[in-house]
Amino acid sequence: LHGERIIVLANREPYIHQHDAEGGIGVVHPASGLVSALEPVMRACSGVWVAHGAGDADRQTVDAQDHVRVPPGEESYLLRRLWLSEEQERGYYYGFANEGLWPLCHVAHARPTFRTEDWQQYQQVNQKFADAVCQEASSEDPVILVQDYHFALAPRMLRARLPRATIITFWHIPWPNVEQISICPWHRELVEGLLGSSILGFHTQQHCNNFMEAADHFIESRLDREDFAVIRHGQRTLVRAYPISVEWPHHHASEAPPAAQCRAELLAQLQLPPDTLLGIGIDRLDYTKGIEERFRAVERLLEREAALIGRFVFLQIASPSRTQIERYQQVNRDVEELAARINARFGREGWQPILLRRRHTEPADVFRLYRAAQLCYVSSLHDGMNLVAKEYVAAHDDELGVLVLSQFTGASRELREALIVNPYDIEAASGALAQALLMPAEEQTARMRAMRRAISEANVYRWAGRMLIDASRLRRREQLIE
Ligand code: G6P
Repeated sequence: LHGERIIVLANREPYIHQHDAEGGIGVVHPASGLVSALEPVMRACSGVWVAHGAGDADRQTVDAQDHVRVPPGEESYLLRRLWLSEEQERGYYYGFANEGLWPLCHVAHARPTFRTEDWQQYQQVNQKFADAVCQEASSEDPVILVQDYHFALAPRMLRARLPRATIITFWHIPWPNVEQISICPWHRELVEGLLGSSILGFHTQQHCNNFMEAADHFIESRLDREDFAVIRHGQRTLVRAYPISVEWPHHHASEAPPAAQCRAELLAQLQLPPDTLLGIGIDRLDYTKGIEERFRAVERLLEREAALIGRFVFLQIASPSRTQIERYQQVNRDVEELAARINARFGREGWQPILLRRRHTEPADVFRLYRAAQLCYVSSLHDGMNLVAKEYVAAHDDELGVLVLSQFTGASRELREALIVNPYDIEAASGALAQALLMPAEEQTARMRAMRRAISEANVYRWAGRMLIDASRLRRREQLIE
């Protein structure tokens, strides 16, 4: 694939231009696992990223082709922005993608909503983005990386226009079983759309199996179980697990101060004594993340370990997300009320057990928070991978700190040395928090070292590299057949 210009198609853009309070224009880095994983790959291999221009100053920063060179100041690839009408954004993004597919694919007890109008917008917007990708292609056989559940139909649309393209699609969220996916009235179209891909990637083998079964059940196709491929109308789609990861070494690692300094600065800023034990949670404010279960585990921890009252603080950073959707407004209210109740129960002069910060936090600051914390609790109720878990480990080059990790994340399959918990089991989760806070330094180091080794080997460049190598093999095979 040497010399190929890679085209990424993803709804979320890596750099958002926003007007700031001083009347200027600033750049915001979105809270998105997809973006944090893919961005370093694009910086390394250049190309063009096609995405929705969502910032209120985005239009002012593009050229006549709607392009802007990024990252700002180190320009290494192109960002092509597409503009969506309010109606399109409502139907395609808020509606079909986030009120339909998101709850459908995450078993998280939010009933999915499927509206015909949203589906129509989803189809139209997929076509609009697929057309833009075709404009960006400079050959008949470009390499296109389609990202996530916003674009299930785009691979087939692209295949129709560019039959020789190498289309690598990555589904960043879980793919549920046959019974579950059939809830979507247009499940066949989703499967057919994705089968326009040359390669279809998921985080885990289980999600690959679920997809293969869906193809078998719902559409006329042949399964090659040996090669894990689906063949339809002569088009072969390889279905593979590529667990996503983080960059290694992390680009903030050398800029951020050592862990002890990060902690001392943070505790001073929070006006807490320097020997305070600090736990952290960092998420988009999303009902799949189990933030309420997390707070209940902290509450139970304080009930059972009275010595931690006044000594332990759990800092929760929650970036507001998809705020136009009622279920997100509800989780926002619930999380706030629960934190207030627990703080009222245990808090005392100058100390509250839960510090809830609901605001966007820039990645460089997030990195310092990871470094500062002795404990990170990722309690997702269901999560494709969860990169917070991997970033916490990547930040701890001091080889100290404990990760408590939900068994319902893809990450729990790789980070075996974390304390793996069922986040619904408040008793067991609070036990794991206690164990983490009492863990001897040698044990922390042994666990952290093993996890750091795993991530350094399976980093995000390897994730992208494995897909590109498989694609390149496929291309060579197709060229030989031609
Ligand atoms: C998940 C999705 C990404 C998405 C991110 C943030 O990680 O898999 O596609 O970008 O959430 O959500 P948002 O809706 O703000 O892009």
